[in-house]
Amino acid sequence: MDLAVLLILVGLHTAPPGTAPGPSWHGDAQDIINRKCLTCHRDGGVGPFPLETYKDVTKRSRMIAEVVSSGLMPPWHATPTPEGQESPWQNDQSLTAREKDVLLAWLTSDQPLGDPSAAPASPTFRSEWSIGTPDLVFDFGDPIAVPAEGTMPYVYRTTEMDVTTDSWVSAWEVLPSDPSVVHHVLVFLLDADSDARPSDTRGFFAAYVPGLGSRVYQPGQAKQLPAGSRLLFQVHYTPNGKAATDQTRVGIRLAEEPPEHEVYAVGIADRRLSIPPGAAAHEEGTSLTVPRAVHVLSVMPHMHLRGAAFQAELEAPDGTRRTLLEVPNYDFNWQLSYQFKDPPLVQRGETLHITGTFDNSEANPANPDPGRRVRWGRQTEDEMLICYVEYVRASLGDRIRQPGR
Ligand code: HEC
Repeated sequence: MDLAVLLILVGLHTAPPGTAPGPSWHGDAQDIINRKCLTCHRDGGVGPFPLETYKDVTKRSRMIAEVVSSGLMPPWHATPTPEGQESPWQNDQSLTAREKDVLLAWLTSDQPLGDPSAAPASPTFRSEWSIGTPDLVFDFGDPIAVPAEGTMPYVYRTTEMDVTTDSWVSAWEVLPSDPSVVHHVLVFLLDADSDARPSDTRGFFAAYVPGLGSRVYQPGQAKQLPAGSRLLFQVHYTPNGKAATDQTRVGIRLAEEPPEHEVYAVGIADRRLSIPPGAAAHEEGTSLTVPRAVHVLSVMPHMHLRGAAFQAELEAPDGTRRTLLEVPNYDFNWQLSYQFKDPPLVQRGETLHITGTFDNSEANPANPDPGRRVRWGRQTEDEMLICYVEYVRASLGDRIRQPGR
């Protein structure tokens, strides 16, 4: 939102007596903050400060107005859902255009408190595991010391699970003991006899970024946990000025019986990428023709510091294209997964095209070296283009209902 719009909103609030009053804390703003900010900005949450009270919010109102109008907060980078339409994403934490307008109007007014009897109920959060008490908990071994300064290479740790029968995962959660230094965690399943070398794309199991580190599958869906599996943790620590130690854990809830639909995960990667020095909007991509009908549950793009935009598109055999996910402003700091409310059906023979746009120019403040040709590599100064997709197989009925797609 630009300054002119802000001024109009301020103007709304100072409208003459007799017209509708502007928004108040209890009547309007508090509910928006509760629903869209407190998952992270509460005591003990991953946000740098709580936004639980009127005072917490008013003393930072300028900064909040700035990050809300620029779209920096809440972190969510998919194309906004058009006004009046329902978001396709189950985990959409963005503000609707209306919520944004109301919040900004209140922040830039004299911030009336409003009627306490109109206050929304305080939200409740589970204290430790947001998925409920897990059936199985695994840590990655000894705690890891994170220095106050500098950068740390990715940490890889393998953990035995001692799961002796094939089991089914209905929910998982990744929980660092010190979230203030954890940038992201990816967890992979290794089968009983594979060596501990991670492949980046096979066996993707679970992921953590601040505020988003759990998944509860729909009833009737679960992920297989084969007997003898091991967990491989990939943890990216970011020193934050204070020495810290972290021990990350994974909690798993098991389904009592085999599910109707097994959840599969696949990573589609473009390992041949080559980004010229200085290029401001260099596109790379790869494609996969889907071998059988599936419902896509979630899509998670993964790029590094030069990642600028991401797109996943489906192309039918007759050439028609539809967008699965569009992320116009990719941000490496938030490795978000986008989970569908109503998992779309993808027919056998459709082709999934993934495209990553990379900014290797000096104008990208995150770019560690605009002078270099950048290729695939695990460190953040190299690049990746991976699209992790979770899916279930479509049943026959789905195909009959939508022939010829
Ligand atoms: C998914 C977790 C999450 C949600 C939801 C979230 N925040 Fe944040 N917020 C963070 C984290 C983590 C940081 C620190 C990030 C950083 O330094 O980049 C942050 C930083 C901020 C900052 C400081 C920015 C700065 O420049 O220092 C403000 C202000 C803020 N958030 C406001 C909000 C508001 C208002 C909402 C809701 C409308 C919100 N946040 C929702 C996690 C979240």
